[in-house]
Amino acid sequence: MLKGAFTLPTTQTAWLEERKGPPSHCLEQKKVPVTHDLAPGELLVKVEAAALNHVGYKRMQMLPNTLAKRPHIAESDFTGIVVAAQGTTGFSQGEPVCGWISQSMAQITRQGALCEYVRVQGDHVIHRPENLTPVQAAGVCLAGLSAYQLLFHHAKIKKGDRILINNGSGGIGTFAIQIAKAHECHVTASASSSSAEFVRKVGADQIIDYQVEPLSQSLAKSPPPVPFDAVIDCYGLDSNLYGNCDKYLKSDGVFASVAPATGSLLATASAGAHLFSHAWKPAWLGGNARKFSLLNLQNSKEDLRALQALITSGKVIPVVDSVYKFDDALLAYDRLMSGKAKGKVVVVIDPELYPKSEAPPS
Ligand SMILES: NC(=O)c1ccc[n+]([C@@H]2O[C@H](COP(=O)([O-])OP(=O)(O)OC[C@H]3O[C@@H](n4cnc5c(N)ncnc54)[C@H](OP(=O)(O)O)[C@@H]3O)[C@@H](O)[C@H]2O)c1
Repeated sequence: MLKGAFTLPTTQTAWLEERKGPPSHCLEQKKVPVTHDLAPGELLVKVEAAALNHVGYKRMQMLPNTLAKRPHIAESDFTGIVVAAQGTTGFSQGEPVCGWISQSMAQITRQGALCEYVRVQGDHVIHRPENLTPVQAAGVCLAGLSAYQLLFHHAKIKKGDRILINNGSGGIGTFAIQIAKAHECHVTASASSSSAEFVRKVGADQIIDYQVEPLSQSLAKSPPPVPFDAVIDCYGLDSNLYGNCDKYLKSDGVFASVAPATGSLLATASAGAHLFSHAWKPAWLGGNARKFSLLNLQNSKEDLRALQALITSGKVIPVVDSVYKFDDALLAYDRLMSGKAKGKVVVVIDPELYPKSEAPPS
């Protein structure tokens, strides 16, 4: 049960995933109860801001109601203030935190981030780094963990490695570049010409414009003098990038990818089949012997703490693309789904935090 100085309302406003389809069809803003009963190890957090991730709308579009367990509150990433803690959590009332709701947790609790109060397990939460604003902190966990796990668990990068990051300007790519640079790696990143300067400022040593010709083709034609130790694919749709990588990735190098998910089951299955045909075929049939590793994002308190330390040290600064009001969440999805976001798309729940200076791009 809750105790202390915070008076909690019994209801809150949330964006509920009601039915299968694109966000404009699937989501409705509704009143729902605020959970007052927490299980041991759980926190109740008053959400200040949430951030969108592609997995959110892809699940809305792909999964039927029974599999998605609708209705439930949308999205995963949030930052806010702890208003209650049950048992040993390592957090106290009034502390600013950022956290995320993993798919496995959401399946059980039906919690989500696009709401005013979220119930979450303490192992999915870290103290908010003091050098971040709530808007910067909103999108740290899912994209930051993805980048961290791709680099360290999948590609097992070492200091001094030469790394290719495909999609250097996205939510995951901007974290991946900064984490790899903090680990003293040399980073080549792909970006369109309009994002090249931005990606260089984020930290990439070298940029390849993927719009001049597909990255797999330009790298196969002009491979780097020293092959990459790892390819970190933060885009996930170009199966030829893996298919051709024997020309630019070391023979013992790892190709780690976010997954070929597209938002449609058929297109995802087709992209996946194409990708895995490269990975499973023997080399004499055109297959590729390089190790392929697919991100299956898992919660890890240890990884969250490592990410927190990188941010606190100033080596990693979360990149915010745009900020939307709570009522304008559907516009925020439009921005995310445009595929043009440079960094995180943030929805501010606490109206006092809505900063005019960080208003959405026109
Ligand atoms: N498997 C998992 O557990 C997992 C977890 C998290 C995310 N994901 C997936 O990871 C993917 C990336 O997420 P994100 O949030 O980082 O993406 P994002 O922020 O939406 O990426 C946007 C960027 O994509 C770039 N882009 C567009 N077309 C491109 C192309 N053909 N090649 C390279 N870059 C291109 C654009 O860069 P320019 O400005 O340079 O054009 C744009 O800035 C999503 O598909 C997501 O579903 C998977």
